[in-house]
Amino acid sequence: MPTAASTTPTDITRTAVASFDGCDNERLRRVMQGLAQHLHAFATEVELTQEEWEAGIRFLTETGHITDDRRQEFILWSDVLGLSMLVDALEHAAPDEATESTVLGPFYVPGAELRAFGAAIAEEPAGEPAWVHGHVRDVDGNPIPGAELDIWQNGDDRLYAVQNPDAPENHLRGRFHTRDDGGYAFLAVRPVPYTIPDDGPVGRMLAATARHPWRPAHIHMIVRAAGYRTLATHIFDAGSEYLESDAVFAVKPSLLREFVQRSEDDPERPAGVTGPWWSVENDLVLVGGDQAGEPTDPGRTA
Ligand code: BEZ
Ligand code: FE
Repeated sequence: MPTAASTTPTDITRTAVASFDGCDNERLRRVMQGLAQHLHAFATEVELTQEEWEAGIRFLTETGHITDDRRQEFILWSDVLGLSMLVDALEHAAPDEATESTVLGPFYVPGAELRAFGAAIAEEPAGEPAWVHGHVRDVDGNPIPGAELDIWQNGDDRLYAVQNPDAPENHLRGRFHTRDDGGYAFLAVRPVPYTIPDDGPVGRMLAATARHPWRPAHIHMIVRAAGYRTLATHIFDAGSEYLESDAVFAVKPSLLREFVQRSEDDPERPAGVTGPWWSVENDLVLVGGDQAGEPTDPGRTA
């Protein structure tokens, strides 16, 4: 006997979820049925009105319109809703000794220049010099030679190079390889807090909900080594503002590092540095492909 038209909220949800029953791809079926189920539960729980739903559609439309090669407003939504961090946490469970991952963010641009041990990443003045150094090791403490560190950061104008059409392409970014002892070093600038792009729909949502758009000062890195899981993480400046209220929820206590103030006459002053400078030590511990119960995928960038 044909079933009656679905009319109650429960009927509508059941019908929408069941519409995916015939999907042969088990994973796709599970994801789509979960999405429909939880979207319906959300609308039901908050008693979503037609007007609110239309406002949501308008926000999504504007999100599409503002997104291009340099601006990724969809990732920003995911970041400010904590979804990016949740997905990262779900996929990157790791042993306690391993360096924790955190959000990639929208300003990573592949293909940064390969630079020599200790080289500067700033191609024009961008803040107070900061000597970043450490070792890359496995969870048993063995050095990992030839690991690649892909670094990017903002300058004291609060911008990443990709946000500033006047900045040289490789400004404030670079790739480095570890030495035989797993050691690496580069000259960065002391990072400053900055606001995530807040002139679009995400920024309007933050303002409307009394949230601020600030991120605490940090330096980004992706660490890759053959046979190890790729790690996307940050060095957070332990002295920064906004560590307690990062707009994208990316702070993990294990990633906080002290930037130590050094003087001009310090014998360890890096070549080319004049005036006061900072140093920060940051060791990194990578997980082997089988130690996390997951295959290693060397092609994966983040
Ligand atoms: C970043 O750290 O570059 C970033 C992360 C999430 C949103 C915006 C920026
Ligand atoms: Fe950042």
